[in-house]
Amino acid sequence: MTLTAVQAGAYLHHLAFESEAPERLAKFYADVMDMNLTQHSDGAWRCEGPARRMIVVPGENKKMAYAGLACRDADGVAALRARATAEGLEILDSPSPYLDGAFAVRDQDGHLICFGLATPDTVKRAGINGPTQHLTFASLDVEQFVDFYHGKLGFALSDRVIHEDGTLATAFTRSNHEHHTIACFKSDRTGVDHHSYEAGEWITIRDWCDHFAEHDVQLMWGPGRHGPGNNLFIFIKDPDENWIEVSAELEVIHDRDNVDWPQHPRTLNKWGRAILRS
Ligand SMILES: [Fe+2]
Repeated sequence: MTLTAVQAGAYLHHLAFESEAPERLAKFYADVMDMNLTQHSDGAWRCEGPARRMIVVPGENKKMAYAGLACRDADGVAALRARATAEGLEILDSPSPYLDGAFAVRDQDGHLICFGLATPDTVKRAGINGPTQHLTFASLDVEQFVDFYHGKLGFALSDRVIHEDGTLATAFTRSNHEHHTIACFKSDRTGVDHHSYEAGEWITIRDWCDHFAEHDVQLMWGPGRHGPGNNLFIFIKDPDENWIEVSAELEVIHDRDNVDWPQHPRTLNKWGRAILRS
């Protein structure tokens, strides 16, 4: 199977979340996730930091409006678009202000995923390291998630977590060399489980924790180390109760077969408490 998304070098460039209180949510990302904030005439708030961006639009709490993935070059965008068309997916307009030459598709659970070329960053700022890195969904059916992202778009399957009955608890897919770009947990609901910023190094997680403490934001989970991806992690919640992960040491995959892990607390957190979703 052609790994079209991997060949396109797609990476998670930004996310857009809906909120009933968009100003409050946007101010949280600006302050706590260390980004600049601008309000736009379409009602959207844009938070922009070094290699991380979050758009907040009026709407429902805890609902993703869209995800924006940037490709390495125009050939990559064209190849992904051709692949999506050949797979019978409807090609939609991209609402993202951060992508040029973009298109969008809806995944098996209705999430809008945009692919295009990243527009140049207009905001240059220093800040704690932590590019937008991955997005994880909650879904009633992880098998269908794999069929869509791996089967239809050509993401590589990095690892799977398997229930005792053989059904999928979690699947991790990648569209570049990092262990996962988009993952999915089996759940009793459909939506976003969490999104993540990659701090790179353990010591930078310390800096994030000190920064969170200055804003009176307490960790909800971690520090710990995940099995699949081997990344160190901490989690906090935003005011809408969206889960935010800051990760470090995420595995870089050059060439290996995917691994099946058992659904077990130690798979999710080698160090301590696990939050199992199924
Ligand atoms: Fe994660």
